[in-house]
Parts: sequence; C-alpha cells; structure tokens
Amino acid sequence: MKDVNVGICGLGTVGGGTFNVLTRNAGIIAGRSGCNIRISRVASRRSRDDLALGNIPFSTDVFDVVNDPEVDIVVELIGGYEAAKELVLAAIANGKHVVTANKALIAVHGNEIFEAAEKAGVVVAYEAGVAGGIPVIKAVREGLAANRIDTIAGIINGTGNYILTEMRAGRDFAEVLKEAQDLGYAEADPTFDVEGIDAAHKLTILAASGFGVPLQFEKGFTEGISTLTPYDIAHAELLGYRVKHLGIARRREDGIELRVHPTLVPKSHLIAQVDGVLNAVMVDGDAVGQTMYYGPGAGDEATASAVIADIVDVARSVAAESNQRVPYLGFSPDAIEDLSVLSMEDIQSAYYLRIQALDRPGVLAKIASILSEHGINIESIMQKESEFKDGRIPVIILTHTVQERQMNLAIEEMESLSDIADKVIRIRAENFN
Ligand code: HSE
Repeated sequence: MKDVNVGICGLGTVGGGTFNVLTRNAGIIAGRSGCNIRISRVASRRSRDDLALGNIPFSTDVFDVVNDPEVDIVVELIGGYEAAKELVLAAIANGKHVVTANKALIAVHGNEIFEAAEKAGVVVAYEAGVAGGIPVIKAVREGLAANRIDTIAGIINGTGNYILTEMRAGRDFAEVLKEAQDLGYAEADPTFDVEGIDAAHKLTILAASGFGVPLQFEKGFTEGISTLTPYDIAHAELLGYRVKHLGIARRREDGIELRVHPTLVPKSHLIAQVDGVLNAVMVDGDAVGQTMYYGPGAGDEATASAVIADIVDVARSVAAESNQRVPYLGFSPDAIEDLSVLSMEDIQSAYYLRIQALDRPGVLAKIASILSEHGINIESIMQKESEFKDGRIPVIILTHTVQERQMNLAIEEMESLSDIADKVIRIRAENFN
C-alpha cells in the first residue's frame, strides 16, 4: 500500500483531535483510502504532552511542514487570517495539497487561494470549516449536484446555539459563554461566535458552494445574540416560535440574500428542535426538496472527522496519481455566476415587533394603520394587561413577510409617534415552508 504523507500545522483543539483520530483509526482510514495515511511531521507553537507523537518530527515553526519535501498534504489548523493565508499560499507554491478547518481564511481569502491552487494544480479542501463534523460541503457540492439550490439556512455556530439553549432555561449569558469556552467550542475571540461573524464566515462558504457565486463575506449582514432579552425569547415561545441564531442565504434572480441574525422559527420546525452545541443546515434543492444535515458543529474529534474526510479524499487522488477532483466551490470556475449580495433593505422577511405603547385609547389603531400603509399584514398581536407598568404596555406583533425597506419605514413612523416610548424591538422570523 502506497504511503501518503500528511503534515499537521497546529495542535490546538482540532489539531489534537485530528492527530488522535488519525492514529486510533489508522487501519479503517487506510482501508477506505486505499493508501497508508502517515503523519510525517507536526508543527505547533506549543507541544502537547498528552499526544503520543512518538518519533514523528515535531517543530515549533509551521513552515518546517510546508517546506518538507516529503509532505504531500499540509493540514492547516492554526486558525486566524494572515498567518494562515501566508502558510496556505506557501504550501500551494510548494505544490502541496491543503486541508483546512479555517472558515475565516476561506470566507475572506478563498477566491485568491482557490485561484492560486487552480494554477498550481493542487487541492484546497475546507469541509471542516463549516458546521464542524457535519459533511455538509460534500452534500452541497456532490450529493446535491443535480439541483438548483435556492435556500440554505441553519444553525451554524455551536457556541451561540449552546448559549441560546441554556438561556431558555433561565441561565446567565456570561456564565454559559464561559462554559462553552471551557469545553473548547468557542473561537479564540468569542465575539466571533456571539456577534455572528463565525456564522457569517460559514454562510459565505455555503452560499458560494451551493449557488455557484463568488465568496462575498464582506457584503453579508451580521447581527449577534448579545442584545436578545429573555423577555422576547419567552414571548416568541408564547406565539409558538423559538428564537434561533440563523444563517440564511437565498438565491434570487436579482442577487443573493446573505444574512446572520436571531430568527423566530416555528417550534414545530426541525431547526427549532436543535439544541446545545449541535448544528443543523437546511438545503432546499429544486429536485430533492428540503433536506437537513444535523450533528455536532464544534469539538475536537467531531471537527477532526471532517478534516480527515478531506484528507482521505485528497489522499485517494494522490495515491492514484489522478488529477480528477471536485472544483473548489463545486462549480467550474467559468460557471461561477457574478451574482451580488443584496442590501438588507431588499430582503424579504416576517417580523416579531415589540412596541412600548403608552396606555391610551387609539394607540393600537395608529400602529395597525402605519403597518397597513406599508403593506404589512399582521399575523398575530398580543398585549397583556398584567404587563402594564409606568403607564406603558408592550404590544407584540408578528407580521407576514414583507420587504425590509417597508418595515424600516413603518418602524421609523411608529417611533415618531408620541404614544410610543423607546425604540421598537424587531426580530426577523421565517416559516421555511
Ligand atoms: N466556534 C465555532 C462554533 C467552532 O461554536 O461553532 C466551530 O466552527
């Protein structure tokens, strides 16, 4: 059996998991690859005494891996943008294939990296960057290759979902975040999780791979979960909805919607049932219909599972000396459509609104009239006498789908009424029918 040499850069959570699974399951992985996947070199800023590195050469300089002529596949698990980009471009320039779990790198620099890889005739594989252990990139690029995909939506940050799940049980935000960090789920900078940046990286990659459009991270919309209140989470529940932090990508004739924000989802929808660090991605294909991919979105060995699946893919073609490979984004470069990300004013969504109304006659009529003037249809409305306080009473409204531009205008008008105190709270809602 032929040897294919792998060099691992980075021995953090995912690097350690990759080392352990590759070592523990070497036999089964060789059986599947048809070659012997050998860890021939490892580099990391810090060594790890808990890993059985044995005689495998170890160094603190990741460029020792990139410059080692023996290494066929460089596994980039150092994270971050610039250092990782330099490492990956150097590996490509040295004719090495790359496997990475770095969604930030692919979302932000992917177009440039894929172009360099295409010229050099090497593979850059990134399954582990999206939804941890769930093989959703493989599903979108290969399993659903027959379909025109118009919607991809899901829970694609485990830390955020873990926090929202625990908050529903009444726990404190900061305490739960600390727990997620201790479990190794959170990003080095946890604001990436909490403010939706990590999810936006993953959504950018999913949209590009599913729709056949360029990676456009900088044009997406991102809103985090740090300002969500237990009050709105509980009232969404009363209306039959659960608040989830979703990434939503929609392909339309005039462009694509690319947005990450808290979203009300009907409690009966599968996405609403996904709790804890688990992720779920829904992909709607014109032939297959609605499909869902569910599983652990973070964690050492769960993410290693996806890293190693990519290593196996690349190793098979290295062993077979074949140039047959799936295009980077699942579409040939000349078939990538130049479809831009739409502005948020142009997206279509339903809305949950919380309006702090002064308890006077006619206020509800004024609110209803403003909504109606902007073509906004009310699905349900809730006002509880028991919540009356300091002359104010919250009015909670769920609307049908409308263009965000109309909702912005309606909110502006409502906020200008003397009967309305404070800003109107708005959370977008989706039914995914
Ligand atoms: N911080 C990420 C998450 C890790 O919580 O989902 C996996 O990408």
